Amino acid sequence: MMQAQVVNLKLPFFAAPLTSVPPLIIETERLILRAVGAGDGQLLFDLYANDLATSKYMSFKVTGRVDESEFFFFFFGDFFQGKNDVPIRQFSWIVREKSSGEFIGSAGFGPINDTTVSGGYILNRNFWGKGYASEMWKTLVQLLQADPGVKRIEAYHHPENPASGGVMKNAGMRCEGLRSKGSVYPNISDNCIPDMLYSWNRA
Ligand SMILES: CC(C)(COP(=O)(O)OP(=O)(O)OC[C@H]1O[C@@H](n2cnc3c(N)ncnc32)[C@H](O)[C@@H]1OP(=O)(O)O)[C@@H](O)C(=O)NCCC(=O)NCCS
Repeated sequence: MMQAQVVNLKLPFFAAPLTSVPPLIIETERLILRAVGAGDGQLLFDLYANDLATSKYMSFKVTGRVDESEFFFFFFGDFFQGKNDVPIRQFSWIVREKSSGEFIGSAGFGPINDTTVSGGYILNRNFWGKGYASEMWKTLVQLLQADPGVKRIEAYHHPENPASGGVMKNAGMRCEGLRSKGSVYPNISDNCIPDMLYSWNRA
């Protein structure tokens, strides 16, 4: 059962379709998610962002340098603000295993237009195959489903990364098939690669 810490914050910037501030701390059966903040960059770098095998199919490039990783644009800022106080519209949580207290990965989402939110997740390899990604992504999907402003949730994965599709399916998303527009997977190619699209749509 998800327990969300209630915070009395107002959305500090335009974040449609979200109509409320996502919780800073979310508890699931086996995990604790807390909002990524300034100072988490090195931790996330060590957890996965410096490991090409883990981050191969992610949308950030593995450079071997924490300060060069575009990825950390999201994480050097606090929950609501990016570098130099430029607002970002990405909400990310760092995830901890309750039983050990260890950090295991992260997950997040951000609006891509006025109706739709898209998101993703990544775990340190030591924690794969335990259902953790499904547990955390399902929880974030439920959070978005509870926000009446959100009409559609999307997630994409590289065709050679089917485990990610399993996570989306476990969260109740439906496979729409190959998306010809695709995404850039910068650790593989500079060009867009067609990828698998999963979605949830409000009835
Ligand atoms: C993808 C990733 C998040 C999965 O994490 P995980 O905690 O091992 O996933 P789960 O244990 O929740 O399992 C996901 C589902 O996919 C299934 N699965 C795993 N490998 C699979 C494969 N090769 N083919 C098809 N299904 C697979 C699992 O069996 C499970 O389904 P089930 O519950 O019906 O058995 C993890 O491998 C990872 O961090 N990869 C690197 C980052 C990444 O690729 N992120 C996604 C970018 S789109």
